[in-house]
Amino acid sequence: AAWAAEPASRFDFEEIEAGIDETHHVADGYDADVLLRWGDPLFPGAPAFDPLTQTAEKQRLQFGYNNDFVGFVPLDGSADRGLLVVNHEYTNEELMFPGLRRQDSKQAAFAGMTRELVDIEMAAHGGSVVEIARAGGKWSVVADSRYTRRITAETEMAIHGPAAGHERLRTSYDTEGRSVRGMINNCAGGVTPWGTWLTCEENTNNYFWGEVADDHREAKNYKRIGITGSPWQAWGRFHERFDVTKEPNEPNRFGWVVEIDPMDPASTPKKRTAMGRFKHEGAANALSADGRFVVYQGDDERFDYVYRFVTTAKVDMANRANNADILDDGVLHVARFDADGRGRWMRLVQGEGPLTPANGFASQADVVIEARRAADLLGATKMDRPEDVEANPKTGKVYVMLTNNSKRKADQVDAANPRPENAFGHIVEISPDGGDHAAEGFAWEILVKCGDPSIAAVGATFSSATSANGWFGMPDNCAVDAQGRLWIATDGNGPKSTSRADGLWALETEGAGRGASKHFFRVPAGAEMCGPYFTADDTTLFLAVQHPGESDDDKAPGTFEAPATRWPDFKPGMPPRPAVVVVTKRGGGAIA
Ligand code: FEO
Ligand code: CA
Ligand code: CA
Ligand code: CA
Repeated sequence: AAWAAEPASRFDFEEIEAGIDETHHVADGYDADVLLRWGDPLFPGAPAFDPLTQTAEKQRLQFGYNNDFVGFVPLDGSADRGLLVVNHEYTNEELMFPGLRRQDSKQAAFAGMTRELVDIEMAAHGGSVVEIARAGGKWSVVADSRYTRRITAETEMAIHGPAAGHERLRTSYDTEGRSVRGMINNCAGGVTPWGTWLTCEENTNNYFWGEVADDHREAKNYKRIGITGSPWQAWGRFHERFDVTKEPNEPNRFGWVVEIDPMDPASTPKKRTAMGRFKHEGAANALSADGRFVVYQGDDERFDYVYRFVTTAKVDMANRANNADILDDGVLHVARFDADGRGRWMRLVQGEGPLTPANGFASQADVVIEARRAADLLGATKMDRPEDVEANPKTGKVYVMLTNNSKRKADQVDAANPRPENAFGHIVEISPDGGDHAAEGFAWEILVKCGDPSIAAVGATFSSATSANGWFGMPDNCAVDAQGRLWIATDGNGPKSTSRADGLWALETEGAGRGASKHFFRVPAGAEMCGPYFTADDTTLFLAVQHPGESDDDKAPGTFEAPATRWPDFKPGMPPRPAVVVVTKRGGGAIA
């Protein structure tokens, strides 16, 4: 009814039906082509993918597993040629390798893992830089590009910022605390205005075996980040650095934002410790009124926080080299959302307020290493799992995806997290004071409470213009297109075995249509929707289909032998393969 004379939403594509089957679906009039799949050879001479003869050596030359963040860096300002930067967040042993089974629904480390399989996994983690070019309206991979790069869990990286060189980061491998092998569990990320890739380490705790004693220096720290002796990965069985009883400081070397220069394949990735250590979802960015660089960051955990980092230096758009290390110097903040619709960014600076030596913060290194504990002391607002945060360059508003929090009890609700047992999540909209991303204060409101609006008990608040296909739950990643419109990707929109696959929805944020949502794309069974990323002209949308075929149903586990789908190849014996999909409008033009 609300679709009458005045359009409720600026999105004029015809929405798809919510549902689930073995393949992906996009709105009529659009193409959604698979561009890059797990195992695709990236370098000249790299071996073709064969899941039965896979080795770590081959995997290092091939596209990695579980693509999550996708970014695009144009080459020479071209709209038709650029570098795709892609995170490979984690691995699904049960879908990658024959005969492997999850031991229980808690994803305890796999019993059947061998050293060689672990090394394949480590090579399938990290990220990829791939040059792509557009011809005749279609994108393809440039096979012999000088920019091609694989980053893995073994790639040498430099530690920068206040924690660099600190004794809490020193190990037997790196007695200086300045270099670390690899990045792991890289979830979302960002592309800076100077063309570097920010890639964010998230659930790094799940890789570490063992526990430290209660009186160990890191006991509180590791408890707060979740190193509990029940890892998801088998790595610690074969690699001592992933066992805290053998290498007690190694976990402090993960959980950072990593900056990578895709223009220089020989460059050393840098872990930017000034931006804090927690379960980084992403690194959305904006410029302050005076030209400093601002990064919004979610810490994806129930009852954890939204952060913001503001550089000391201004971004130099005329001289790229001047931005090389500006992320090493600035102020990390954490958000407090007050009941009156106001909020405040609180400074996480050693020596200020409770961040004293008496509380375990002797230097800024201690503050960034234990950013969560520092934020606890400042009284930051405990949120319902902060995922992606994006700033809208057209309106100056900032959107925070809060994916869900089934553990919030009725006596724990607050204005910014108003639902107990929040199964479907919600989205908070922040309006920085004076439109300045570096301002201390902001106004905020809830844009939408997610879930099925036809079930009153759910309490969803999509506008009435939203159809039965248009609602979603579990907002995770998001993107703002060049027209300033918000697109939302979901993770766990319904239990994986039920009738609604994850996908991409277009959510109107302005005018009469505010809160109207439409379904644009959906993933195959068992997958999560990641990306999304628009090119500057809105003619191309990159999406990442992560873990197709995964199952959380113990009675019907997704396995190599019998996956829920064999997307995207659909060949007997070929497992499902996480892949990057390119969406374009048939006949060309901006995605509408
Ligand atoms: Fe890797 Fe918070 O999703
Ligand atoms: Ca994910
Ligand atoms: Ca995510
Ligand atoms: Ca998620």
